[in-house]
Amino acid sequence: MSSALSSAMGKRKRVGVLISGRGSNLQALIEAAQAPDYPAEIVLVISNRPKVAGPQFAQAAGIEALTIDHKGFADRESFEQALQAALTKAQVDIVCNAGFMRLLTAPFVTAWQGRLLNIHPSLLPAFKGLHVHERVLQAGVKVSGCTVHFVSPEMDSGAIIAQAAVPVAETDTPESLAARVLRAEHRLYPQVLKWVANGSVTLQSGRAVFKPALSAEPGGAVPLAETVADQDFEPLYSPPLERP
Ligand code: GRF
Repeated sequence: MSSALSSAMGKRKRVGVLISGRGSNLQALIEAAQAPDYPAEIVLVISNRPKVAGPQFAQAAGIEALTIDHKGFADRESFEQALQAALTKAQVDIVCNAGFMRLLTAPFVTAWQGRLLNIHPSLLPAFKGLHVHERVLQAGVKVSGCTVHFVSPEMDSGAIIAQAAVPVAETDTPESLAARVLRAEHRLYPQVLKWVANGSVTLQSGRAVFKPALSAEPGGAVPLAETVADQDFEPLYSPPLERP
């Protein structure tokens, strides 16, 4: 989008995306932010690993992309200071971790409290950490999914904003399950960033709190738990139930 158009739109939140690899969630965010009425723009992508694909998508979309390799720093703090300097220089309002594989320390997380998001490929608080899909299959659970949450200093533990559930099939491999969850991630993350950017959801006393008023707006439905009527959704059964 041209800078003239984006400034004409006024208050689009400036978003920095932190990645470590493939960048498919980054791509989903970039695509969503191309809609003229999307309340956020991706202004900076930072990868902590050199030679990954993500920065190329960013550059192709005209977005500034940096590699800040954590291996070039003596400790986490100095690495994070470099991240912070780049985010500040780009006047970033919201940071999205999208497959970013570094733990962030409390000072960094605190500086971005309520403005730092992460996506994790499980239904948190189950299956925090790495090798999620292998562990999901090992455990034999029948439903998995993904979670977008505000980041807190403990890994994969911040306030949950939204989740998407998918069935787990008997025949799934970690790869097939990862692909199914990833499709849900690509829909969930842009929606949640939209809600955070337009103020529909905020972090309050350690919880993600939605603004009730917005649930009535056309196209802006917010699925408040207390307003979900039973007829509003079909439960996800895995495996599917026999037809009556
Ligand atoms: C996603 O599954 C995300 O949930 C996890 O790492 C993966 C990153 O994939 N944190 P991509 O780099 O966005 O394609």
